[in-house]
Amino acid sequence: KNEKLWGGRFEQSLERWVEEFGASITFDQKMAEFDLKGSIAHAKMLGETGIIDKQDSETIIKGLEELLIEYQQGKLVFDVSNEDIHMNMEVLLTEKIGSVAGKLHTARSRNDQVATDMHLYLKYHLNLVSQKLNHLREVLVSLATKHIETIMPGYTHLQHAQPISLGHYFMAYYSMFTRDSERFTFNMKHTDISPLGAAALAGTTFPIDRELTANLMDFSEIYTNSLDAVSDRDFILEFLSNASILMMHMSRMCEELILWCSNECQYITLSDTFSTGSSIMPQKKNPDMAELIRGKTGRVYGDLMSLLTIMKSLPLAYNKDLQEDKEGMFDTVETISVSIDILAGMLETMTVNEEKMLYSTEKDFSNATELADYLASKGLPFRQAHEIVGSLVLECTVAGCYLQDVPLTRYKELSPLIEEDIYDVLQSQTAVKRRNSFGGTGFEQVLHQIDLAKKELSVG
Ligand code: ARG
Repeated sequence: KNEKLWGGRFEQSLERWVEEFGASITFDQKMAEFDLKGSIAHAKMLGETGIIDKQDSETIIKGLEELLIEYQQGKLVFDVSNEDIHMNMEVLLTEKIGSVAGKLHTARSRNDQVATDMHLYLKYHLNLVSQKLNHLREVLVSLATKHIETIMPGYTHLQHAQPISLGHYFMAYYSMFTRDSERFTFNMKHTDISPLGAAALAGTTFPIDRELTANLMDFSEIYTNSLDAVSDRDFILEFLSNASILMMHMSRMCEELILWCSNECQYITLSDTFSTGSSIMPQKKNPDMAELIRGKTGRVYGDLMSLLTIMKSLPLAYNKDLQEDKEGMFDTVETISVSIDILAGMLETMTVNEEKMLYSTEKDFSNATELADYLASKGLPFRQAHEIVGSLVLECTVAGCYLQDVPLTRYKELSPLIEEDIYDVLQSQTAVKRRNSFGGTGFEQVLHQIDLAKKELSVG
């Protein structure tokens, strides 16, 4: 005899270790509240449509509601021999209200049930992730506002290229996180769909009301095809893809924060509350949290690759492989949620060493484009200007000085177009301020981006 809920056609039972291999309760209990919410909606619908007695439906709902409270109080004990969250709940309900609990699974399968739980879980967490992202975006806008006129070296190839506004830098990431946020919003469209009522794969002979259960669970739509409803994991793949792109953005930013607090740069100092020390080297203050976000990016990519691989050859409809869809999703939800908070916290509490940043734009040739542009704006073909400035840079490198140190007499020899005002043009502050083309790093442009961002954030 086999004691399982599905034991009828079996003569023997699974050995414990085999049972453990097949069970998901150790992790799918994260969906407990969503599972109960889905069951309550289903039970209501069964009563409303007369598929089961109103009285039975009410008894079941009451039992489920009690289980919900007991779960929230940490009182429910799950058992591996009941395999997953769905069967554990059914067993607990049976213990509570007796055999009438057996009516709950009418016109339902664990296949549409688990899909429903996943949709509910992700819907809930997509909202939380968006809120966290909004906070991060707000932090970036407020930092940008504070640092419109803070000058830092802008890089290409990790070489000093042209000076930029630190506010401009922050707003670049603001734009990336805004797109990330939009991707999650779009993801919601494919998550906010109810699979409940697809049953095992083919629908059911019972006169169920899928609109009603969808409404009760706050889903905006229902799947139109039952095979699709129980087999689709696109909404999770989209989430993992979006999360991967988000992590990539956060990782890039963290990489820069790590470089910026190196001895070589010293552009920023991270707060003690987000840094750690070394067990051997007493002087160390390490940007561990930024490094961890960079590292955790690998986990999230892994979760995406894992699910893509799980899905790639699955015939329709449900296959047990699909049980492997959960841990990656949970892991990614938890990883991105805490990473967003940590990044926001790190940014909010760090100190920007403005003089260091500015100084580093003065001990370089990042104003070379200014000189070339100066000549070009006075009518010299840009190519010729480029050539003149290039050879002057070489001359300075040999002499151990910078463009701003070159005397006016030498400038006059190079080109009679050069006047005394060149020394102002060569200043980093001036260089940044004057880069006022739309979307550029000029102060006015950065302010414009900030204004747009504030409007975006207030709309939500
Ligand atoms: N624990 C299972 C999962 O996570 C639930 C669905 C089981 N369905 C089935 N036909 N075995 O996928």
